[in-house]
Amino acid sequence: MAGLLDEIEPLKQAALAELKIAPDLAGLEQTKGAWLGPHGKFTGLMKQLGTLPKDEKPAAGRLINAAKVELEAALAERRNELELATALPKEPTDFTLPGRRRPLGRLHPLTQVTEDIVRSFRKIGFAVADGPEAEDEYHCFDALNTPPDHPARDTQDTFYLATNAGGDSPSPGGEGRGEGERQSLLLRTHTSSVQIRVMNSQPPPVRIIVPGRVYRRDNADATHNPTFHQIEGLYVDKGVTVGDLKGTVEFVFKELMGSDVKIRFRPHYFSYTEPSYEIDFTNALVKKMGKDWLEIAGCGMVHPQVFETVGYDPEVWTGWAFGFGIERIAMLRYGINDIRLFYENDVRFLKQF
Ligand code: DAH
Repeated sequence: MAGLLDEIEPLKQAALAELKIAPDLAGLEQTKGAWLGPHGKFTGLMKQLGTLPKDEKPAAGRLINAAKVELEAALAERRNELELATALPKEPTDFTLPGRRRPLGRLHPLTQVTEDIVRSFRKIGFAVADGPEAEDEYHCFDALNTPPDHPARDTQDTFYLATNAGGDSPSPGGEGRGEGERQSLLLRTHTSSVQIRVMNSQPPPVRIIVPGRVYRRDNADATHNPTFHQIEGLYVDKGVTVGDLKGTVEFVFKELMGSDVKIRFRPHYFSYTEPSYEIDFTNALVKKMGKDWLEIAGCGMVHPQVFETVGYDPEVWTGWAFGFGIERIAMLRYGINDIRLFYENDVRFLKQF
C-alpha cells in the first residue's frame, strides 16, 4: 500500500504551513486539533498504519513519527512566537526617548525674594540677625516705647500664648535690662523686637537686617494673612541721617524692582521712631495696577527713648530703622493678586517660580 507512504510528506507540509500562519494562540490550538487531535488529519494517517502489510509497517512508522516530531516542534515554535507577541506592549515603544524625570523641589517664592533682599543689603554692609517668633512683651512692645495701653498689644490683634498668659516666668531672652513685670509670651507682631535683642546684646555701631515671620489676628483675604513676613533694618552709628535712610531704601528697591523705581516718604507715627515715615513706592508695575503709589514700609529715626532703654547714649548715637512686608514685594514683583496663594502650597502655583 504505497499510497499511505506517499501521503505523509504532503500532509506534513500542509500542516506545517497552517501552523506557521496561525494568527493567535486560540487559532493555533484549533490548527493543532485539526491535525494532531483525536480526529485530526495526521492522527488519521497513524490510524491507517495498522492496515499496512507487516513488512511496510516499520518504514512507514518511522516516517510518520519523524513527521509528528517535526509538527510538534513547529507547534511549540509558533506558540512561543505568539506568547511573546501578546506580552509585548500594544503601542510601539521608542526606547530612545528620554527617561521620566523626578520632580525637583525649589525654593518658595517668598524665600527667593527674601534672599534677593538680603543679598542687596549685604552689598552695603548689613549682617543678618535673628530672633524668636514666640516673643515676650518687653522686646515686642515695652522696649520699643510702646506703652501697655497701645492697641498693638490688644489681645484682639495679637496671639498671646496660653502657657505664659499673665505668667511671671522669666524673659526667655533674659538680657535683663529694664524688662517689665509682665512677661507673657506672644507671637511677635513685627520683626522690630529683634532691634531690641541686637542692641541689648552688643554695643554700637549696628548694621543689621532681620528677615522673619510675624503674626497678627487678621482674617485671611486677598491682602491679609494671619502670618506673613517682614524685613527689619537697623542702622546705628554717629551722625546718621534721614538722607542715609532714604538713599539705602532707594538703592535696595532699585536693585529689587528695577531702575524705574521711585520712592517717597510721608510723615507717620511709630512709637519707636522720631521722626517717623511711611515709604511709598512706585514703578511701571504699580502704574499698571492703576495706582500712583503703593505703601510699602514704615521707618524713621530711632527714638531716643529706645536708645535709653537699651543703654545706648542718645546724645552720641543716632540711627534709623525700617520694616517692610516681604509678601507685598513678592506680589508686586510677580504680579500675584492674592496673598493666600503663598500659604496654600499648591504645586501648580509654586512651580511657576
Ligand atoms: N514694625 C512696623 C510694622 O510692623 C514697621 C516699622 C516701622 C518698623 C517703623 C520699623 C520702623 O523699624 O522704624 O508695621
